[in-house]
Amino acid sequence: MARKFYLTTPIYYVNDQPHIGHTYTTVVADVIARFRRMSGQDVRFLTGTDEHGQKIERAAQARGLQPRQLADQVVERFQALWRRLGISHDDFIRTTEDRHRRGVVKLYEKIKARGDIYKDSYKGWYCTSCESFYPESQIVDGRCPDQGHKVDWTEEESYFFRLSKYQEPLLKHYSDHPDFVFPETRRNEVLAFVASGLKDLSISRSSFAWGIPLPDDPRHVLYVWFDALSNYITALGYGADRKLYARYWPADMHLVGKDILRFHAVYWPAFLLSAEEPLPRKVVAHGWWLRDAAKISKSQGGVVDPVPMIDAFGVDPMRYFLLREMIFGQDANYSDEAFIDRVNTDLANDLGNLLSRTLKMIEDFSAGMIPKVDSRFREDEPLKAAAREAWTGLVKNFEALDFGAGLARVWEFISLLNRFIVQNEPWKLAQDPGRRWALDSVLYSVAEGLRIVALLVTPVMPVSAAEIWKRLGLKADINAASLEHFAWGELKPGTPIARGESLFPRIDKARYLAEARADKEPPMETRKPSLSPAPAAAATGAASAGDTAPAAAPAAGSLPAAAAAPASDGTIGIDEFARVQLKTAKVLAAEKVAGADKLLKLTVDIGVETRTIVAGIATRYAPETLVGKTIIVVANLKPAKLRGVVSQGMLLAASDDSGTPYILTTEEPVPPGFKVR
Ligand code: MSP
Repeated sequence: MARKFYLTTPIYYVNDQPHIGHTYTTVVADVIARFRRMSGQDVRFLTGTDEHGQKIERAAQARGLQPRQLADQVVERFQALWRRLGISHDDFIRTTEDRHRRGVVKLYEKIKARGDIYKDSYKGWYCTSCESFYPESQIVDGRCPDQGHKVDWTEEESYFFRLSKYQEPLLKHYSDHPDFVFPETRRNEVLAFVASGLKDLSISRSSFAWGIPLPDDPRHVLYVWFDALSNYITALGYGADRKLYARYWPADMHLVGKDILRFHAVYWPAFLLSAEEPLPRKVVAHGWWLRDAAKISKSQGGVVDPVPMIDAFGVDPMRYFLLREMIFGQDANYSDEAFIDRVNTDLANDLGNLLSRTLKMIEDFSAGMIPKVDSRFREDEPLKAAAREAWTGLVKNFEALDFGAGLARVWEFISLLNRFIVQNEPWKLAQDPGRRWALDSVLYSVAEGLRIVALLVTPVMPVSAAEIWKRLGLKADINAASLEHFAWGELKPGTPIARGESLFPRIDKARYLAEARADKEPPMETRKPSLSPAPAAAATGAASAGDTAPAAAPAAGSLPAAAAAPASDGTIGIDEFARVQLKTAKVLAAEKVAGADKLLKLTVDIGVETRTIVAGIATRYAPETLVGKTIIVVANLKPAKLRGVVSQGMLLAASDDSGTPYILTTEEPVPPGFKVR
C-alpha cells in the first residue's frame, strides 16, 4: 500500500483578509502535497479557518456584524484565493462546523476523564491578537512579548489543563524524536521553553460567548487554541469516523509559521498525550515575509495582498517566487522588484525562452512535429544523466524542505538545455541535408528535456507545466503523472506540437515601477476635471486605481497579457474596470495630518476591516463633518506613505479645474463593505 502522508496548514483567523503570509504557508503545503502525490504517496491535505474566540467576536462587533456573518464573508475570500492559486487540499475545515464541535467536545471529555482538567480562576494578561496568555514578567509596556500587541488584564473563572504534568513526557518525546520540531533552531527554542517550566494552562473563557460551550459547564467556552488545534483530528472524524482517523492520524507534518510554533509543539502534543492519542510526526516552522523589516500582517500594517501581482503576472509566477525566494525557515523581504527580477530571470529568460525557441525550431525545421532521434546520436547522454540528477536533487531538497535549492537543481538542467541548443547550432545543421539526422536528434532531445522539466516543476507551477505538456503534444494529465514518466524517451516522434504565445512574458521592470510610482502621488490640482480620486491616494500596483484616474491612466499600457491596454479611443473593457475594487466605507474618525494643509487622515470601516486613508480634502472638509459619512473607496490599492502616514486606499471625489474636492457618497445610507460597480 502507498505510504500515507497527512499534511496540514494552520487554520486561518477570519478577522483578516488573506495576505502574502497566509498565501505562503498554503502554497508551500500545496507544493509538498503535489510533490508527495507525484511520488506515489496517499496524501491527505487539510486547511481551513479558525472562526471562534474573542478576536473574531471583537472584529465582528466593530463592523456591526454577528461573528458568524463575518466568518462567512471572510471564509469566502480565503476559499476564492485558494481556488485561484490551484490549492489542492482534500478537505477544508471551519471550526464553526458541527463535525468539528462534536470532535472537540469528545477530546475535552477524554482529557477530563483522565483527571487533567480542574476549575480555578484566571488572573493575568491576555493578548487578544495572539489569543494567548502571558505572565506578568513577559509584558513590556503593556504589550505582548511576541508581537508587541496591546494586552488586557483579565480576571475570570476558568478551567485549567494540567500542562505542568506533561513537562517531563514532552521533554522525553523531544529527545526520543529529534525530528519532531524542524528546523533545529526552532527545536532548541521549544526545548528551552519547556525546560524552563510549564504552568497549567487556562482552557476556558467565561467573559464572552463566541466559542464552543463546555459540555459540563456551558457558561464557559473553550479556549480558542484548544478549539483550533483540535481541527487536525476533528477533520479526520475523531471519535466518529474510525476508518478515516485510523488511515491518516498521526499527522506526518503540521506546517506552521514560527509565531505559532509553541501552540503546536507544546500545547497540542500535551493535549494528545493526555488523550492517549499518537503525536504528530513533525511540526515544521517557516519564517516570516517581511516588508521594511516588519512582519506583514494586518496588525503590523503594510499588508501585502498577493492578488494584484497575480492579476498582473499570473498564479504560477507568484507560486514560484514564494518558493524560490525564501530560504525555508528564515525570514525574507517581500518587494515587487524582487518578484519582477525572479520572474524575468528564471521564468521569462530561462524557461520561457527555452520553450519558445524549441517550439519555434520544431515548427521551422520539423514541420511542427516531434522529430526522431537517430541511433548514431550520442550527445544526448549528458542530458539524460542531468535529467536524472535534477529529479534526485529535487527530491532530496524538497524532502528537506529546501525548495529554493530543489528548484535551483531544475534550473541547472534548464541552463544545460539552453547551452545544448547553442553548442549544437541546429540552425546550421538545418542548412546541411546530410546532417538532417543530427538536427532531428538535437530537437528531439531538447523537447524531451522540456517534457521532463515540465514534470519537475509541476508541484510548484501546475498550470504552466500542463501548458508545456500540451504544447509538446502530450495528452496525459501532467498533474496525475507519476514517477515512470520520468524515464527518458517518452515523447513520440510525429506528435504535432503547438507553438503558442510566450508563456512568461518579460516584465518591463523600470516602466512598471515608474508607473507604479507615478500612480502614487498625483496631487489633486494637477488632475484633469473628472470623477477623480482624492489626491493622497496611493497606488503602486499594476491593478491600481490609477487606472480610473485619467491623469494616471497610461499605467495599463505596459502590462503583459493579463492587463489589457485601453483601446485607442480610450475605452476600456468591463473586466478592466472590475479589477478596481470600489467599496462603501464608513468614516469612523478624521483628523488633520500634521504639517500638511490639504491632507486629512481618515479611519474608515470597509466592511471586513478598518483602514487608514489619507486624502487631500482638507481645503473643503473639516474633519469632524466627515465622521459617520458613507464614502466610496478604492479598496485594492497598495498602501503608500504620505507625510509619514501609511494610506491604505483612497476615496473618490469629484473636482473641477480649481481642484476643489466634492467627495462621493451614497444616496441612501448603506453598510460599509458594499461593492460599488
Ligand atoms: N488561527 C491561528 C492558527 C491556528 S492553527 C490550529 C493563526 N492564524 S493566522 O491567520 O493569524 O496565521 C496563520 C498562519 O499565517 C501562521 O502560520 C502565520 O505564521 C502565517 N503568517 C501570518 N503572517 C505571516 C507573514 N508575514 N509571513 C509568513 N507567514 C505568516 O495563527
